[in-house]
Amino acid sequence: MSQYTKNPPLNAEDVAADPFAQFLCWLEDARAAGMIEPGAMALATADKDAVPSLRIVLFKGIHDGQFTFYTDYRGRKAQELAVNPAAAATFWWDRLERQVRIEGGVTKVSRELSATYFATRYRGSQLAAHTSRQSSVVSDRAELEARLAETEARFGDGPVPLPEHWGGYGLTPRSVEFWQGRGGRFHDRLRYCRDGAGWRLERLEP
Ligand SMILES: Cc1cc2nc3c(=O)[nH]c(=O)nc-3n(C[C@H](O)[C@H](O)[C@H](O)COP(=O)(O)O)c2cc1C
Repeated sequence: MSQYTKNPPLNAEDVAADPFAQFLCWLEDARAAGMIEPGAMALATADKDAVPSLRIVLFKGIHDGQFTFYTDYRGRKAQELAVNPAAAATFWWDRLERQVRIEGGVTKVSRELSATYFATRYRGSQLAAHTSRQSSVVSDRAELEARLAETEARFGDGPVPLPEHWGGYGLTPRSVEFWQGRGGRFHDRLRYCRDGAGWRLERLEP
C-alpha cells in the first residue's frame, strides 16, 4: 500500500477562484509529469431506472463553462444521456497522486463546435465514425472491416464530413472536487460547488 507523499498541502488559498482554471492547471501538471493520456476520464451515466454504467472517454476542452467529450450519439451512453441528461466524470493522475471529480448536467455541444473538432481528427478516426454504430452487437470483425472498406470507397480522396450521428457533449459542473493524496491516508479534498453565478469552496474530510 503506497503512502501518498508527493504533494505539499492543498489549501483554499492555493487554488484558483474557479474550478476550470484549477482543472487546467492540474491537467497541465499531469501532462508535464509524462502521463500518456492525461485527458482520459471515467464517465458515469445512468439509464431511466438509475442503473449506472461507466466507461473512459477523452476530455476535449472547456467550452462555454462545459467539460466536453465526443462520441456516437446512438451508443449506450448517448441513449442513457437522452433519458437522464446527467453525468459524473473522474480523472485519476497516478503520477501526481491526484483525482478530480466532476458532477452535473449534460447537453450536446453546437454542431459548429463538433464540426470544428471532427475536422482535426485523423482520417482513420473520421472514417471509423462513419462506419461504426457504437455499442451495437456485430457478428464479427470481418463485417466491420468490410463496412470500413465501403466507407473508404464512398469518400475516396475527398473530405470526410461530420456524421449526423456523431458529436460532442458538454458536462456543466454543479460541483468539482480536487483530491490530493497525503500521508497517512489524511488526504486533502477541496470541492467547488456552484453558488449563484460563482463558486463556494469547501473542504471535505478524507
Ligand atoms: C483511453 C480511452 C479513450 C477513449 N475515448 C473515447 C472517446 O473520447 N469517445 C468515445 O466515444 N469512446 C471512447 N473510448 C471508448 C469508450 O470507453 C467506450 O468503449 C465507448 O465510448 C462505448 O461506450 P458506451 O457503449 O457506454 O456508449 C475510449 C476508451 C479508452 C480506453
